[in-house]
Amino acid sequence: MRSRINHSGNVIYHVEVKTSTSTYPITIGEPLLDSFKGFFKGYPSVFLLTNDTVFDLYNENLIRQMENDLPFLSHMTVPDGERYKSIETLNGIYEELSSKGLGRDGCVIAFGGGVIGDLAGFAAATFMRGVDYAQIPTTLLAMVDSSIGGKTGINLIKGKNMVGSFHHPKAVFCDLSFLNTLPERQFNAGVMEVIKYGLILDEAFYRFILANRDRVAARDRDVVAYLVYRCCELKAQIVGQDEKDKGIRAILNFGHTVGHALESYTGYRVYLHGEAVALGSLVIIRHLVEKGVLSIQSLEEFKGILGFFELPTSLPSDFEVDAILRHFSYDKKKEHGKSRWVTLRDVGSAEWGQAMDIEEVNSILRGLQRNG
Ligand code: NAD
Ligand code: GLY
Repeated sequence: MRSRINHSGNVIYHVEVKTSTSTYPITIGEPLLDSFKGFFKGYPSVFLLTNDTVFDLYNENLIRQMENDLPFLSHMTVPDGERYKSIETLNGIYEELSSKGLGRDGCVIAFGGGVIGDLAGFAAATFMRGVDYAQIPTTLLAMVDSSIGGKTGINLIKGKNMVGSFHHPKAVFCDLSFLNTLPERQFNAGVMEVIKYGLILDEAFYRFILANRDRVAARDRDVVAYLVYRCCELKAQIVGQDEKDKGIRAILNFGHTVGHALESYTGYRVYLHGEAVALGSLVIIRHLVEKGVLSIQSLEEFKGILGFFELPTSLPSDFEVDAILRHFSYDKKKEHGKSRWVTLRDVGSAEWGQAMDIEEVNSILRGLQRNG
């Protein structure tokens, strides 16, 4: 573990992402304003992308301060929402990047949640065949997942993240003070991604989350810093082994195949991503209990932690399960026409690649409608 105490007495963690094409630092702690400014001073032009919500919250005391210290910085805001992760928004960003004159030696800053990170990253990957970018994630989900690993992209009507590229940021700054303004529902959806890392890679970490649930929910600074640090470390290890998502990186999608089907069935209007992943994970854990791989106690423990963070544990009875299953046809990760499971050998140890038995998913989803 690499960490140090800063002048405010807070722990600052450092993680390095190292792949065959790219190496970059993740800094985790608070406050990190001086670190951001120091990093971007090296660029002749910097372009910050954010959304309306984050701009309103942080214009006064952050964006303006950055503009004062980095006179070559310009910014653009886009409307808030997943539906703006679109080709139309991207086109507007290209126009703005060219009119503001971002050079090939410039840098784009993604300042926001995963939507802004994916959009800014894809704009940076493609504008003038690729410019640098850095991530300043402001949601828990973006800090522990989307800002790391270089996946960038936009949605098409037919499905999420259908157009994109791998383009790693030059640096990631997880300033935990941004989480102070994050609504509880968004925070809890991010907690699901944190739980995911424990389930797939580190049982001790999973137990730590269960044991410290009250402190997590209270956003205790030290506990949240450790959670973000450990997730970044685990994700960096996986991305380092499988940068282009050809093998083990698949395990990061635990619960996501069913989760994505639920999101797309409900038109992205009912569940936040982490909430849909909670239900997707529950389907897998039920499947593993039925197969005798996991105990009923593991299932109860998992349902308990979902309930504690107000994540869903049952499916509304008016959902049409057959229609949900049809949404698997949009799964990008199919092999030979079949969706693959990411499953667990045990809590803390994932495996992937088994073909999914759609009939079994069907029966588990119906079970979730009856009794959760
Ligand atoms: P988001 O970006 O939509 O942010 C969630 C909400 O929180 C938004 O309304 C946003 O305006 C608001 N918000 C952001 N920061 C805030 C703050 N500090 N205070 C108050 N409100 C704040 O959603 P998300 O959950 O961060 O990310 C989801 C996106 O990430 C999806 O598009 C998903 O596809 C993508 N994703 C990408 C990867 C990847 O590897 N690239 C991985 C996981 C998810
Ligand atoms: N969020 C999944 C991945 O980065 O591969």
